[in-house]
Amino acid sequence: MTNPIKPVRKIVLPVAGLGTRFLPATKAIPKEMLPVLDRPLIQYAVEEALDAGIQDIIFVTGRNKQVMEDHFDHAFELEKILLERGKTEALAISQSMLQEEGRISYVRQMNPHGLGHAVWCAREIVGDEPFAVALPDELLQSKPGCLKKMIDVYNELGGNIIATLKVPDQETSNYGIVALGHTVQTTGGHCTEVKGLVEKPKPSEAPSNDAIIGRYILQPEVMQALSSKEIGAGGEIQLTDAMAKMIGHQAFHTVEYTGGRYDCGSKIGWLTANIVMAMEDPELAQKLKDVIG
Ligand code: UTP
Repeated sequence: MTNPIKPVRKIVLPVAGLGTRFLPATKAIPKEMLPVLDRPLIQYAVEEALDAGIQDIIFVTGRNKQVMEDHFDHAFELEKILLERGKTEALAISQSMLQEEGRISYVRQMNPHGLGHAVWCAREIVGDEPFAVALPDELLQSKPGCLKKMIDVYNELGGNIIATLKVPDQETSNYGIVALGHTVQTTGGHCTEVKGLVEKPKPSEAPSNDAIIGRYILQPEVMQALSSKEIGAGGEIQLTDAMAKMIGHQAFHTVEYTGGRYDCGSKIGWLTANIVMAMEDPELAQKLKDVIG
């Protein structure tokens, strides 16, 4: 018997946002290129996708984002000089993110109308197959990675999978929040049926404390739901609203994420990521302690 669950081969990485919380740093540099230690945020997201077995990467970009294309391409001048100088380690680092040609595509979101609109902009490249979405400013650190865990669950259950994290009551209004149904046991652990989604509810109106944290596996029908371009919270086209329309027609499950998570779209999240990850690096940890005590 053939397996009716289509594999997840593609990931959409929306990187067309304005990054206003990081101005003026993000005036000429994309937020997704801000480094945490030695790597730009976007690289962590791509590494997480590759570790999960995803091969085709679709960036939804905008104006001033071309530097991301260069990051995933050859830097001929640099590579030539490193080679001539025998700096083989630096050369390997510089070339480590080169993918097979044709595996990375770029599509432009010409106006930043919101996350849902950014995902919709990738509809022609996604085509008629399930796909993952990851928000690169949500830096998730775990082994195995969050997307890998989600794909393991997806391969058993199919449908749509959303990663969630428990947040305190007072923070529900910062997130999409999930209304939960039955618990489902899979070989990779338990996950929970999704009965509804609410974008940024007040604590008194939140159906749970389970917040959506920027990792999704979605069926292609979400593109139809997004095509109506309904304006939601914050005056933007919200992915959460499109997913909410699909509930009842398609299976949705959450995978609860319990690893390290840093909202690097905010200054405190980005700073925390740098400090925590530096403290995990034996070489940097002692030097950092010497400086900050
Ligand atoms: P954010 O909600 O953090 O928005 O986007 P933003 O514009 O990047 O940043 P602030 O709030 O102004 O500081 C989450 C992710 O969705 C992408 C962003 O690039 C980021 O990776 N995004 C957001 C788009 O691609 N297009 C949009 O219209 C909005």
